[in-house]
Order: sequence, then C-alpha cells, then structure tokens
Amino acid sequence: MTLEVPQGQVISYDLRKLCSALGVDDPTRVVVETDDSRRALVTIYPANPLAVMPPPSPDDMLMDRHGRIVVGRYHNGRPARRRLFDPSTGSAQRALVFGTTGAGKSRVVQYVLACEKRNRIVSWFADLKGGQSAPEAAGQVDWHATTQEEAILMLRAAVAIAEERQRRYKALGRNAFLIGQPDPLISVRIDEANRLLERGSPYREEATRLIKELGRTGRSVGVGVELDAQASHLEELGGSDTLRAMLKEGEVTLLRWSSSMMRQLVGDGLLPADAQLMPIPKTLRPHTLVSQFDPAAEDEDDAPGTQGTAYLLSGPHPTSMMRHFRIGSIAPTPGLDPEILALYGPGEPARLEDASRDAAGAAYAARNDPAAMEKLCAELRDETEKEAKAVPPLANGKRKPSSRLEDRVLAALAAFEGPSTADEVLAAVSEDGGKAVRLGSVRNALGALADQELVVREGHGLYALP
Ligand SMILES: Nc1ncnc2c1ncn2[C@@H]1O[C@H](COP(=O)(O)OP(=O)(O)O)[C@@H](O)[C@H]1O
Ligand SMILES: [Mg+2]
Repeated sequence: MTLEVPQGQVISYDLRKLCSALGVDDPTRVVVETDDSRRALVTIYPANPLAVMPPPSPDDMLMDRHGRIVVGRYHNGRPARRRLFDPSTGSAQRALVFGTTGAGKSRVVQYVLACEKRNRIVSWFADLKGGQSAPEAAGQVDWHATTQEEAILMLRAAVAIAEERQRRYKALGRNAFLIGQPDPLISVRIDEANRLLERGSPYREEATRLIKELGRTGRSVGVGVELDAQASHLEELGGSDTLRAMLKEGEVTLLRWSSSMMRQLVGDGLLPADAQLMPIPKTLRPHTLVSQFDPAAEDEDDAPGTQGTAYLLSGPHPTSMMRHFRIGSIAPTPGLDPEILALYGPGEPARLEDASRDAAGAAYAARNDPAAMEKLCAELRDETEKEAKAVPPLANGKRKPSSRLEDRVLAALAAFEGPSTADEVLAAVSEDGGKAVRLGSVRNALGALADQELVVREGHGLYALP
C-alpha cells in the first residue's frame, strides 16, 4: 500500500493504531517505510518476512565491483549490502555498529572479519571482552588483541602505518589508494569499543585521539576503522565531537536498541528527529492474552529471537528493516563454533606488507608472543597510571592540561576576544616568551584540549571554555 499525505504535511504513523486499523494482530508482519516526507510504503506479509534467515553463500562474502559484500536481506527479500572499500575514490571505510547487548553485534563482527579474510584484507581486531565475544577470530586475523592496553598499542601502530604509507605514496607520486597494489587494505576493528571510550576509562583520551587520527589519515591510504559498541549515547564514544561526527558519516549499522537509546540516537543526530524506524522487538512472540484458566500456556522463552535484525542507516534504504544472515549456531556450542570457523575458510589471513613493519613497531612484532605483549602492556599501564597521578582532576571532574604547551595554548585562546584560528594561536604562543613551537604541535595540543572539552570548535573558530 502506498500512502501519501497532502502537500504541506509530513507523514507520521503509529504502528499499533495502524495494525489495529488493518486488523493485523502481529505487528512484525507489517512493515512501514517512509521517505521522511509525504509518502509511506506499507507492506503486509503473511508471516514475519525476517523470521528465518539463511547462512551466507560464498558469493555473498566476496566484494562486488563497488567494494560491497552482502550482509543479509531486507524485509522484501532484496540483498542488504555493506561497503568494505570504495574503489571509486580509493577510500577505506569508517564504520559504526551499534546495538544493545545480545542484539548481534559480535556476530556481525565475525561475519565481516570472515569476509575480510576471504577478500585478502588485513584484519586487526580487538575483542575487549577478553577475547570472549568472538573467540573464533583468534588465528583468523593478522592481529587479535584482547585487552584495552593492546588495543591502544594496535591503534598507535595503525596510525604509524598510515603515516608511513602517506610518506611512501607521496614519494611514488600517488594520490589514491589502490587495493593490493602493492599494499593490502587494512581494517582495524574494536568490539565493545565503549569500554575503551566511555567516561572513566583510563585510555579514553588517547583512544579518542588515535581513532580520530586514523579516521582522518587512514582513509586515503587504505586503513579503515570500525567501532562496535553498546553505548546508549554517542557521548560514551569518546570525548570528541569530531570523532562522533566522523563516525556518523561512516557505514552505520543499528541493531536492536533499548528504549532509552532511541531518544539519545535522535539527540545525537544519528537519526533525524522525524525519521520513524519501526522498533525491533526482542522476540517474535505475538502478544497474546492468556487467561489464568488456560491450561496450556506457551512457554514465553521458546519464542524465536530477532538477533541480527537491523537498519543500515548509511545504506540506500535506511528505514528498511533488514536482518543479517544466520552466522553460526543460535544455541551456544561447547567449544569454538564450527559453522563460524567454516566461514573464515582455510588458509592464513592476509598479513601487513613488509614495507610497513618497521612503522608498526614492537607491539606488532610481539602480537603472537604473550610474554612480550604483556610486558609492553604493563609499560603502557604504568605510564598511564603515572600520568593520571601527575594531573589531579579539577573540581568538575575534568583533567587539567598535562603539558606546558597545552597551558600556553589555553592561555593564548583565553586572551582572544572572539574565535581564533590555529594559526592565530600559534602566533600568540610564539610571542609568549616560551620555547618555539610548530603549527603541528599547536594543532595536537588543540586536539587534546578539545578532547578534554576545554576547547570547542565552531565552524573554523576555536574558543576556550571557562
Ligand atoms: N546473525 C546471527 N546469526 C545467528 N545467531 C545470532 C546472530 N546474531 C546474534 N545471534 C545470537 O544472539 C547471541 C548474541 O549475539 P552477539 O553477537 O553476541 O550479541 P552482542 O555482541 O550484540 O551482545 C549469539 O550468541 C547468537 O546466539
Ligand atoms: Mg558482543
């Protein structure tokens, strides 16, 4: 059914009233899509169209000429695709997979990791639940990290590689990344990224800065980044507007959300205020009334779940409900899931190119050596603890700038009447009688201050917050 409201009005609907009007008891049989304007398409299915999903086929897992894989199906049976790479611009992707606990984030992660392996993409994967979220990934990716410290070392290495590639490509006179010529696409993915980025995490500031840096420099040199998170608010994903804006522009997958998340998603601008997404129910149990005299009431826990059901917000059909393929067994397996292992296929995963190994550094070299890795992680822990002790928190819970340059930048900003640019800040800092500095260092200091929410950016102007 196609519906349209008169010009000058915007279409909106109430699913329960609509189902009542249509005489449909099971709301999961009715799918409504709107164009965010005057029109809506209402489809009534004989049964929930996404109740049963097949596993992916090998063809689904291979990138098409637009760099896309098939991740599942829309409610109307059409393939739902996600981009791993953009060959038309040579861009690596940034991605965000969002949803409440149990919505299916880690299965999506495993599927994409398996696809990356098959497409010879180098996967670096941090599983911040200690490796428990996607245990099958161990050995199937180039780097498998299981702690926050290792994730930080991984991000540092990825940023260093992106810089190294920039230098190398510049020397070659190249302006775009060509996949596999000579270097492979690299994809850095953090599952449960909220643990690293939420308030109170010891690595929040550094992780935010590194991910932002990677999003900026990595894109054009073939280093992509994905965060998977159960955050209820984008604010929990690092203290940086720039980072959040960058993620919103990437490939965004929204799995089942909790009711408290919805308002936040709209507030964060991840969903337009008037966009109506049909909520994803937790199970497909029809809501039936059961009398106390009914002898054979159904066991509610037997109802099939909706895991993997999602919206691909950055795709061509953001308001079309889709469901990811069935990835692995629904019931827990006693050991590694053989179905998931089979998705990865045989053979070794793609590895980082030799030319970038020096840039990747000691952590990359130690990635398969638990003792050496633990030593590096312990160093990072000590370093971070020392820094945290050295800078007492301010009364408002924020930390004071930790280096002198940050203090100087803050003082320079505070002296300006209106907004100023990084160049003006550099000029002011250069005249304060302190050590000479470069624009790059000023920019870094500004970035760190913005992450601590001591400096805000508005358009091209910078302000210090009191
Ligand atoms: N695509 C899927 N195919 C099959 N089962 C799934 C799928 N997604 C989720 N599940 C089921 O739901 C459970 C929770 O999924 P998981 O990916 O661990 O959720 P999250 O990471 O969002 O907490 C899995 O253990 C599995 O039983
Ligand atoms: Mg998970």
